[in-house]
Amino acid sequence: MVLSEKTVEICKKTAPLLVEYGEDITTRMYEILFMNYPETRALFPEALEAQYKKLAGAIVAYAANIDKLHVLSHTVDDIAKRHVTSNVKSEHYPMVGASLLQAIKDVLGDVASKDVIDAWKEAYFFLGDILIGREKELYASR
Ligand code: HEM
Repeated sequence: MVLSEKTVEICKKTAPLLVEYGEDITTRMYEILFMNYPETRALFPEALEAQYKKLAGAIVAYAANIDKLHVLSHTVDDIAKRHVTSNVKSEHYPMVGASLLQAIKDVLGDVASKDVIDAWKEAYFFLGDILIGREKELYASR
């Protein structure tokens, strides 16, 4: 599967906004995630704000490099290894995805049109599927 041209275009155009409001979006995302899916709280290190913000920070960084995954600061392999150590499973991806998209809507308001949200949804699950695939292999080889 490849990302549609429209998605890449919208994500690149809106990435600076996500970076600018990154902290607000991140904070809101964890609020929603832990409120709606309290079982995910245990996956993250105890109350280490700066640490658990890594995840949303990475997703935002991905935004800026949507069409060149290889320049991500962390490789897919590093992220997958960290996830497997943290016991992240495929069923958690829709939870984080829904929370992230809702956080973007809450923080950006009208700017987060349906097109913008759809593009981010596609981009999130695109990378998510790659990570899930790699994590399956790592779990199987443990
Ligand atoms: C496309 C989706 C995702 C991306 C791009 C992503 C990215 C990252 C990155 C870059 C890190 C930091 C790795 C490191 O420090 O070495 C990380 C850590 C982590 N991620 Fe993800 N992640 C995603 C989805 C998820 C999901 C669905 C969960 C489940 C709730 C999750 C839970 C975690 C946890 C628990 C950590 C470790 C936190 C820490 O030690 O500070 N991630 N992720």
